[in-house]
Amino acid sequence: MNKVKAAVFASGNGSNFEAIMKHEKLACDVVLLVCDKPGASVIEKASSYSVQTFVLNPEDFESKGKYEEEILIKLEQEGVEWIFLAGYMRIAGETLLHAYERKIMNIHPSLLPAFPGKDAIGQAFRAGVAVTGVTVHFIDEGVDTGPIIAQEQVEIFPEDTEELLKIRIQKVEHVLYPTVINSILLSDKME
Ligand code: GRF
Repeated sequence: MNKVKAAVFASGNGSNFEAIMKHEKLACDVVLLVCDKPGASVIEKASSYSVQTFVLNPEDFESKGKYEEEILIKLEQEGVEWIFLAGYMRIAGETLLHAYERKIMNIHPSLLPAFPGKDAIGQAFRAGVAVTGVTVHFIDEGVDTGPIIAQEQVEIFPEDTEELLKIRIQKVEHVLYPTVINSILLSDKME
């Protein structure tokens, strides 16, 4: 049976993209990587998994709406039903949110609602909290504010450095994200 088609949106390194691709029993086919940063490492990673890449520079568009319309055309051409944001450093606008309502997930390196936005790991580290973590959530028009699907805690030790904490957080992300993707896709199929 054909699997549902998905796109990953990423701007940077792509370790979460890779974790999704490496999952042995992923319940969807990742048919597209959308990237807003020409030259980002994730583009090469996608090529190594033979995933088609769609790279755009938002600065080439007169508005966020126009930029997202271009993406939307591509998503529709490829039959994409689900979008997984994995280090996509942009807030989705109305165009995408409307076309993919409750079909766009994001992973964020903190226990939301704590430490939303950029540098969540650094924010938690500097705040001196004993526990931070990872959140997978549906997106809405806010910054890391959509409905939470799953969270996992990560302890911060007294002898920790920000770099060590980041490594542990990403290790958790790489297991949590594909697992949550699979369970949401499964429950969506049952509905
Ligand atoms: C991850 O920590 C993710 O939680 C955040 O951006 C980072 C992306 O890392 N949204 P990578 O590009 O997947 O390595």
